[in-house]
Amino acid sequence: MKKGFIFDLDGVIVDTAKYHFLAWQNLANSLGISFSEEQNEQLKGVSRVRSLEKILEWGNKTISEEEFTRLMHEKNEEYLNYISKMDTSEILPDVPRVLDYLMKEQQAIALGSASKNARIILEKVELKNKFHAIVDGTNVSKAKPDPEVFLIGAQELGISPGDCVVFEDSVAGIQAANVANMISIGIGDPSVLGEADYVFKDFTEIKEEFINNLVSAKKV
Ligand code: G6P
Ligand code: MG
Repeated sequence: MKKGFIFDLDGVIVDTAKYHFLAWQNLANSLGISFSEEQNEQLKGVSRVRSLEKILEWGNKTISEEEFTRLMHEKNEEYLNYISKMDTSEILPDVPRVLDYLMKEQQAIALGSASKNARIILEKVELKNKFHAIVDGTNVSKAKPDPEVFLIGAQELGISPGDCVVFEDSVAGIQAANVANMISIGIGDPSVLGEADYVFKDFTEIKEEFINNLVSAKKV
């Protein structure tokens, strides 16, 4: 049977949260706003616009529209500078093993990310050719927990949503997968990702037998 396997990018395939953190922290500090790693956690899966809105809310700051656009651009320039130095060593453990196994089993594989930089990152870590479809922040109008990104992914793969499986590290992403009627697999902390159908610390815990079971499973 052919299923659709849809992967989030940041925090699932690569650990880019540290680069988002550095760039947002510099921006927040330049505005006199403090910004902690705990706050950065809350920006996982959150779009660039919404992230800046949240930082301004935390710092109780109001800025003009022009300033907002300028800051978003500045943040992204710094982030692009970090990711320009990325290479295959930044792929999270056992991600290539799982992707290669799915390929070998002739399953359909898509990326479903909120990031507008997803394609550049996949190229830097040399994984772009592992995906049959790539849906990112440039293709969607509604952010997770809206299921749009995953539904477009399923459509591009030609697989019905009920036959798709999503790997996600953010709460909003798990909710999006559930709303789309897809099997949701949390990658991270079970106490945070409790709404997922399954949770694993990382891909080292995802064995071939589990994947085989997913191929024949249906979301209930
Ligand atoms: C992912 C990350 C977020 C990031 C968002 C937009 O969902 O988890 O932290 O803000 O993508 O990324 P971008 O690269 O477009 O700024
Ligand atoms: Mg993520």
